[in-house]
Amino acid sequence: MLVLMGCGTLAAQQPVSIINGDPLSCFSMSGAAASNLTIVNVQGQPFSRAWHIKTPNNSANPWDIRIRCFNTLPANKGDTILARFWMRTLASGARPGMTTFVVEKGRDPYTKSVQWTVSAGAEWKLAEIPFTMLETYTATGSEGYNISFWVTFEPQEIEIGGLSVLNYGPNFPYSKLGLTAWPYEGREPNAAWRTIAAQRIERIRKADIVVLVRDETGAPVANAPVRLRMKRQAFGFGSAVAGQGLMDGSADGARYRDSIQQLFNKVVLENDLKWPNWETWSRESARFALDWLPAHGIADVRGHNVIWPGKSNLPPDVVKLLGGPPDDLRKRINDHIAEIMAWTRGKVTEWDVLNEPYSNKDVQAVLGDAEMAVWFKKAREADPGVKLYINDYDIVEDGGFDFAHQDGYYNIIRGILDRGGPLDGIGLQSHFSGNLTSPERVLAILDRFAAFGKELEVTEFDVTVGDEQVQADFTRDFITACFSHPSITGFLMWGFWEGRHWRPQAAMIRRDWSIKPNGEVWRDLIFNQWWTDVRGVTGTDGVFRARGFLGDYDVEATAGGQMKTVPLKVVRGSPNYALFGKQAAGKVTAAGIVNAASYAGGAVAPGEMVTIYGAGFGPRQLSLSGYDSDGVLATVAGDTRVLFDGLAAPVVHSLEGQVSAIVPYSAAGSTSISVEYQGAASNPVSLPVAASAPGLFTLDYSGKGQAAALNVNDDGSTVLNSAAHPAQKGRFITIFLTGAGQTNPRGIDGKLPAYPGNPVPVQPVSVVIGGVESRAADNWQGMVFPGVLQLNVRIPPDAPSALAVALTARVGSASSQPGVTISIQ
Ligand code: XIL
Repeated sequence: MLVLMGCGTLAAQQPVSIINGDPLSCFSMSGAAASNLTIVNVQGQPFSRAWHIKTPNNSANPWDIRIRCFNTLPANKGDTILARFWMRTLASGARPGMTTFVVEKGRDPYTKSVQWTVSAGAEWKLAEIPFTMLETYTATGSEGYNISFWVTFEPQEIEIGGLSVLNYGPNFPYSKLGLTAWPYEGREPNAAWRTIAAQRIERIRKADIVVLVRDETGAPVANAPVRLRMKRQAFGFGSAVAGQGLMDGSADGARYRDSIQQLFNKVVLENDLKWPNWETWSRESARFALDWLPAHGIADVRGHNVIWPGKSNLPPDVVKLLGGPPDDLRKRINDHIAEIMAWTRGKVTEWDVLNEPYSNKDVQAVLGDAEMAVWFKKAREADPGVKLYINDYDIVEDGGFDFAHQDGYYNIIRGILDRGGPLDGIGLQSHFSGNLTSPERVLAILDRFAAFGKELEVTEFDVTVGDEQVQADFTRDFITACFSHPSITGFLMWGFWEGRHWRPQAAMIRRDWSIKPNGEVWRDLIFNQWWTDVRGVTGTDGVFRARGFLGDYDVEATAGGQMKTVPLKVVRGSPNYALFGKQAAGKVTAAGIVNAASYAGGAVAPGEMVTIYGAGFGPRQLSLSGYDSDGVLATVAGDTRVLFDGLAAPVVHSLEGQVSAIVPYSAAGSTSISVEYQGAASNPVSLPVAASAPGLFTLDYSGKGQAAALNVNDDGSTVLNSAAHPAQKGRFITIFLTGAGQTNPRGIDGKLPAYPGNPVPVQPVSVVIGGVESRAADNWQGMVFPGVLQLNVRIPPDAPSALAVALTARVGSASSQPGVTISIQ
């Protein structure tokens, strides 16, 4: 016994509470009536009593309403501390009940060793919050630190029980704390979100690549070795860099520059373009960076930032202007927008026009919130060629629980757009500390902001956690989730080297230039998993097909003993062809372009399905198109596309010498049509565009005689209309028409399809049967297939009875082809 006690090591390994006495009785209510905090009994849990905390109302600052404990014990900088408690929600608004656990210094600057929000539903849920003490505290009270649960939210009622806050001593590794809930949901290798993200990445970040190897006569070269070598990803993968780092003449400077070239295709200047810096010391380094980057392969450069409208981020004279005449302040800002954006014109691709407006609002307090839209307008005038971004933090951070910040940002963006502010992109800073957001929550938040229809970008990513494996895992998962989201166009780290990082622990590369696990993750994802470098050989048709990530490629092929390289830009939505040797183009004539139902030619009409007959294009075997990833009919089938004035139209099928496509709604006056096969365009043919050109589908594909019509029985069953099965008067028939329908399925619910110029409202359609128009109130029309309209029409009671009764459909003022009939009893 004595020996054990004397040795002391055992005692040191036991964690000690940092609360002096019983945690339950240490906390008291602040910011709301004391009666909002009571202690209740709990059954069936590892604890028997809990706080019952009511939030009676919301308030401006997140710390306004909280329960707090001052009676804390000394603790040292670097101590690992674990807070554990259970929580449940008894009542809340639309969102689950929440609390933010905070350990902070008792006075200004209120240094927070942890600020961590958790939520819970009706069931008790365990929260595990590991953190590292940021300062040493020897005293209590205002010279020490205190512990609180912030509950400043919409009215809610929560219970918290079983609190322990234990100190494990200096630098005790989090991985040895035995945590079960930490670090974030979705980290497990088989988490459901992973499959969905992988599928989406495959779909939206890659495209089909077709390499055609032919000889000088145009004959296919079989077994030709081919290589697709990616040179640059289309997606922006980047980092913040320091202009002075780029100018650094030391060995570190050389490695800094090398690393940037190796790791990134996009860059943001960390501090050099910030207003106060730019007006004092940073013009030289900014200029250097803006010249150096494009000269070294990085042409995609973000400007950061034009206006950061809080006192601590504005030049001193502008801070003074906050108290003067508003017009002076307004002019100083507008002049700055014009000046700095003229200075960077042609050198940056996008600009953070407005930074952190949710928490930085000193300027808005003087000029009004409406002024934010004006800044975007002025920015557009100053540099019309650059994308204009807004940028803010705590949107995806803090477990995804900072709803106040999320809502605030959302409303600011809404306000700017409503006032006509030309905002192109929404920046999400993504500075993570302990409370790591699950990928599923990240994706839900991205969806919410994607609904603005603007591009999104992760602009300032870093993860400051002590555990390097957690840091690496979260880096991998967060980037993956973001890369899988269709609205995200870029992902930037906020620094990469420990020697130049605002939060050195977050760096990917150590001071000595060795790479950290999170750096390995970056390299593996971007230059291995999401990088394309494939080899293969052509088939007997001289074709090699692959899927590759979007971006710039060099395509190599060897034919006749000679290796050649062609550059290829692989873009989404169209097949990407790389051609070696001679490629013969197809031929089309005006006479070969006809309505797919009536076979009438001479003109085309918007929404009409046309069949184009010609030579030298199309696959040997019939190829039907499908719907692309947006649910829109694809613009390619069997390597065949149809271009109307250069615009690829939805295609239905292709076959050697023929292809069916749907005339875009944007066609007007006259249109130039050409058929492209394996990347080679035929001669163009010009045709007039008619307002409408209805055609009824017939049974034998002749465009004449028996219509493709179904008799609809009373029970809804159908039978093909024929002499043996005539239609009944007063009952419905279903017929099919092209030349009046939407070209794409999105049109069906009245929403605008992604396809350009689509759709104009369908013109009025009427049906005449044996000279009598069907005017039944319950006639129905709708799209059955892109370009094909289904009509359900009642046979008028006064229609004639005959084996072949003439059937005509009218769309606007145009009639379908003559000679189409149905049988009526
Ligand atoms: C930081 C820089 O990284 C530091 O070097 C500088 O001292 C302060 O600013 N949000 C932003 C960035 O928009 O501009 C900040 O950058 C980090 C938080």
